[in-house]
Amino acid sequence: MKQIHLYIFGIGNVGGTLIDQVLQSHSFFKQQHHIDLRIVGLANSKRVLIDLEGISLDWKEKFGTRSGIRESDSFYKISSLYDATKIAVDATASKEVSLVYPELLENDFNIVTANKIGNTLSQDFYDQIRTVLISKNLQLEYETNVGAGLPIIQSVKDLYSSGEQLFAINGVFSGSLSYIFNRFSEEEKPFSEIVIEALKEGYTEPDPREDLSGNDVARKLLVLAREAGLKLEFDAIQIESLVIPSLRTASLNQFLEEVKSLDPVLQKKKNVLKEGEVLRHLGELDVLNKQLKVSLKAVRKNSAAGQLKGSDGFFEIYSESYATNPLVIKGAGAGKAVTARGLLSDIIKVSKTTQEVLMIR
Ligand SMILES: NC(=O)c1ccc[n+]([C@@H]2O[C@H](COP(=O)([O-])OP(=O)(O)OC[C@H]3O[C@@H](n4cnc5c(N)ncnc54)[C@H](OP(=O)(O)O)[C@@H]3O)[C@@H](O)[C@H]2O)c1
Repeated sequence: MKQIHLYIFGIGNVGGTLIDQVLQSHSFFKQQHHIDLRIVGLANSKRVLIDLEGISLDWKEKFGTRSGIRESDSFYKISSLYDATKIAVDATASKEVSLVYPELLENDFNIVTANKIGNTLSQDFYDQIRTVLISKNLQLEYETNVGAGLPIIQSVKDLYSSGEQLFAINGVFSGSLSYIFNRFSEEEKPFSEIVIEALKEGYTEPDPREDLSGNDVARKLLVLAREAGLKLEFDAIQIESLVIPSLRTASLNQFLEEVKSLDPVLQKKKNVLKEGEVLRHLGELDVLNKQLKVSLKAVRKNSAAGQLKGSDGFFEIYSESYATNPLVIKGAGAGKAVTARGLLSDIIKVSKTTQEVLMIR
């Protein structure tokens, strides 16, 4: 039986749900894949819990009572004692954790991440990570970076690696903004109220400005652009921000206190819609011209984007074979359950392709 040790950074909406899913499916993975998947490390921004037997259903209580202060090498000291396959799971939105990827790879960790930041720092950092992955024969999986659990990245990877010329990828990239604008277009509620409800329900990023500023969608476009072979930096992306300038650098608390001040601008955009139009937040990646754009647009209600419901994501991929009739992927584009399941699917992918056996040195 292959032993896999998981070290999870981030135990919030997505990380916490992932832990529950791993524990619930533990016997299934043993029977189906001959994998003994153990969560041996948990960390939030301040504390860390290590349990080499594998944490169990009482993990929240144990994290509260038995966790210690997190140090930069908390996981490496323990993991170096074992020859198990090691997977670090990044379920944070933290740049600090992304910057640790080279060190994790140096310490022989594979990485599975929902955090888009690591893939959208400089092109140099991106290339450096890929070089180390090849030289150390490790894996980095990040399907949940775009479209939560939807198979967007794998589809683009498969097309690109088979020699297909990609032309464009367009759509509603953000499940959170899909949820917000699907509701805002239909309901007579102030924009800010819908944003706060979306935050409370776990649809938005921990700081909703990451969504509203367009940065989150821009990061997704950049992840896909790099997957399609383009070498680009984040600042090449044309982004329409929905956050008014005075709130862009405010603290999160101050932003939440003053979020109502976004209402007049958004209400004005809603008031000028023509009959049969709705607002949709769109991402556009023009691969041929290397142009990436994030904007809020009025679209026909009966168009594919206009018909979206809930937190649906919607992606159209145009390429040589899909030139006039695009490859369309649509479905729940946000939510902790689908995102955690997407992470778990990546974890199983890594687990099945690694061949190490636990041996206590
Ligand atoms: N929610 C979705 O639908 C969805 C969809 C696709 C992708 N994602 C991605 O999933 C990631 C997590 O989202 P979430 O909704 O679960 O966020 P969340 O509920 O705010 O949880 C974030 C977790 O990360 C921890 N954290 C922050 N900085 C850290 C650090 N430096 N070291 C270790 N842990 C740290 C936080 O710990 P503290 O409590 O100590 O701060 C918290 O446990 C994000 O990158 C997001 O973009 C989410």
